[in-house]
Amino acid sequence: MKVLGIESSCDETAAAVVEDGKKILSNVVATQIPFHAEFKGVVPEIASRKHTEWILPVVQQAVREAGLELRDIDGIAASNRPGLAGALLVGLTFGKTLAAAENKPFIAVNHMLGHLYAAHLEQDIPYPYLGLLVSGGHSIICKVSGFDSIEVLGTTVDDAAGEAFDKVAKFYNFGYPGGVAVDKLAEKGNPDAAAFPMPKIDKSADGSGRLHKESASHRYDVSYSGLKTAVINQLDKFWNPAYEKTPENIAAAFRKTAVDILLSRLFRAVEDTGLTTIVAGGGVAANSLLRAELSARKDLTCIFPSLKLCTDNGAMIAGVGFRYLARGDRSPKTVSVFPRVDGFRKTGR
Ligand code: KG4
Ligand code: ZN
Repeated sequence: MKVLGIESSCDETAAAVVEDGKKILSNVVATQIPFHAEFKGVVPEIASRKHTEWILPVVQQAVREAGLELRDIDGIAASNRPGLAGALLVGLTFGKTLAAAENKPFIAVNHMLGHLYAAHLEQDIPYPYLGLLVSGGHSIICKVSGFDSIEVLGTTVDDAAGEAFDKVAKFYNFGYPGGVAVDKLAEKGNPDAAAFPMPKIDKSADGSGRLHKESASHRYDVSYSGLKTAVINQLDKFWNPAYEKTPENIAAAFRKTAVDILLSRLFRAVEDTGLTTIVAGGGVAANSLLRAELSARKDLTCIFPSLKLCTDNGAMIAGVGFRYLARGDRSPKTVSVFPRVDGFRKTGR
């Protein structure tokens, strides 16, 4: 079964054809980065307009590069949540209209399930395992027992991991997109230049407003706003006086703590669940320190998608789409978009 996957949730207009949820026949990603760079962030209006301009040529290219005609496609999938509503609407509407016109089955796909599936495109991974989904909009630690069977253990209580990278990069003018720029700069700096504090998530679990030490309900949650503020304010109390506050050192010390935050929560989940396979996904899974630190844990099996499959792409949507379509699932013609990840609970949809 050859599935066309369409992705337009943020600033990449992407389409791919994947056979049997495994073999990538084509994977076209048209990045809008140059159009958002001068604003140092994604401008939703620009994103929607670029998707509208590019969606048809990108889909045509994906089908052509797969060596196929539209009639050879057995099903169509498009992401419909979470993301920028206006951006998602372009890919979803294009996909379901094409499916209706060509009389093909159509399925809407949760973008985060796509990120989780990316690694499955490159190797067979048995369930269950722990998922680490880290992107510009989300930081999710979850227990995964099927392609759409997710139990969210922890998430962020404020900024997402990628968002923290992006905000620090924007403040210091490190470059755009922020995650890659910080990652590159950090390679040249000293991570010990500062000792930023780890977050203590002390929101009351009982809603009383009283401060608790880390409550059980936040055991796997992450927080980035404290780190971001400490880095941006360069507070001397965290800074090691032996080192200069160079851009490289700021980037390196920030990156180290940002990764430590994720790993501290992930390793708690490893201990508590006994699961020793970890599958990462999302743009931050491209981070070189995160990849190095996880890969160094010889007691764990840590699986990362290749760099191109970490960030947004159509192949991961086609892969999940195949799984749904193969078991007979179809989305209704009225299916719409959902900006938030709500509903990404037990069933993943
Ligand atoms: O998954 P993705 O392409 O889009 C979303 O679904 O958000 O992730 C984009 C995010 C951005 O915040 C970007 O700065 C971050 O992933 N990112 C990185 C790296 N490459 C991309 N963060 C840290 N290190 C990287 N190497
Ligand atoms: Zn994404």
